[in-house]
Amino acid sequence: MFLAAPRRTGKSTFLVHDLLPELAARRAVPVYVDLWSQKSGDPGALINEAVRKALDKQGKGVLGRIRGAGVTKAGLGSWLSFDLEKLGVPGGATLAEGLSALIRKGGGPVVVVVDEAQQALKSEAGRDAMFALKSARDTINLDPALTAGRPAALGLVFTGSHRDKLASLVTGRDQPFFGSRVRDFPLLGRDYTEAYGRHINGLLPPDRRIDLAEIEEAFDIVGRRPQYLHAAVTRYATGDLGGDREFGSLLDLARDERETHWDSYRRQWSSLDPLQQAVLRRIIAEGDRFRPFDADSLAAYASVAGGQVAARDVQQALDGLREQELVVRLERGRYSLEDPSITDWLASETASSDGGTEQEAPIP
Ligand SMILES: Nc1ncnc2c1ncn2[C@@H]1O[C@H](COP(=O)(O)OP(=O)(O)OP(=O)(O)O)[C@@H](O)[C@H]1O
Ligand SMILES: [Mg+2]
Repeated sequence: MFLAAPRRTGKSTFLVHDLLPELAARRAVPVYVDLWSQKSGDPGALINEAVRKALDKQGKGVLGRIRGAGVTKAGLGSWLSFDLEKLGVPGGATLAEGLSALIRKGGGPVVVVVDEAQQALKSEAGRDAMFALKSARDTINLDPALTAGRPAALGLVFTGSHRDKLASLVTGRDQPFFGSRVRDFPLLGRDYTEAYGRHINGLLPPDRRIDLAEIEEAFDIVGRRPQYLHAAVTRYATGDLGGDREFGSLLDLARDERETHWDSYRRQWSSLDPLQQAVLRRIIAEGDRFRPFDADSLAAYASVAGGQVAARDVQQALDGLREQELVVRLERGRYSLEDPSITDWLASETASSDGGTEQEAPIP
């Protein structure tokens, strides 16, 4: 299963606090790995390490049982027929073998949850690990000894904050999960704002209680990101002490929090040259259909730049945008936004400058 949702909307929190305990309660062994946990670490190594740790933990349980039965000679790892240290590396056991051992020893299905899975594409070893997981899924789920009458013995959940990059794992025929589909990770709903609102109102003096519908609306303003809602509500509850501006309502505070979130986009945007801005607008407007050098695109850049634009200059602009980590190059020369949230900011910026003083053309 592939699930995508924007940054800071509570994906990891849901996985760690809701999904993993639920899996354990259903007697499955969860293996969780966040590929952003060490940005410099190799994603392939992180995935192998997570499986290794789960096996190690399972091994301790096995060891405990052996000791309990009065056998003392058994050493950790001896319950495995392979060297745990070499799992997933050439010459060692494969991930499929490791996961099969985990299923056999755990007695239940194993679910591997990879958070920010798109990060795996960053290295060859990461890509290999994805192929290894895919191959493990196929061999394990076809093995009746492992599935033991269940629909599957190995489940894979991949989440990410970058839909296009995540989709790279499923769209190409040469990609490991070709044929799967990326779905929307559900955002926190009204039940969340209502529970949170009731909790907060319980702490507030009666004259400062907040209408639940207003909390819901404020949550929408901050793109359903709990952190910014909490900040706005806290400022509201404390009367925004020390603030240098007056805020009339929770909604104004939510808008102010959103501005903070957007400030980094604003700074980056103003550091771009006009052609880079034009190219970025075009990427946002066209999405999947974006072709950097087709006639329509060149015409669009020219209308902003006020004259003919050479393909060479476009390439340079694209390279600059990639260096600034605003744009990412996907497979087969496709380009996409590094952080899709910039779309909301630019749309709002464009709307507010319509008829205003800014010269920029609205997004077509
Ligand atoms: N159900 C929730 N209730 C309260 N706070 C939450 C909830 N879910 C997430 N949060 C808060 O929202 C913030 C973002 O959560 P989290 O890191 O899980 O999001 P994410 O989508 O994984 O973000 P990122 O894209 O940065 O990885 C955190 O401060 C977290 O504590
Ligand atoms: Mg996360």
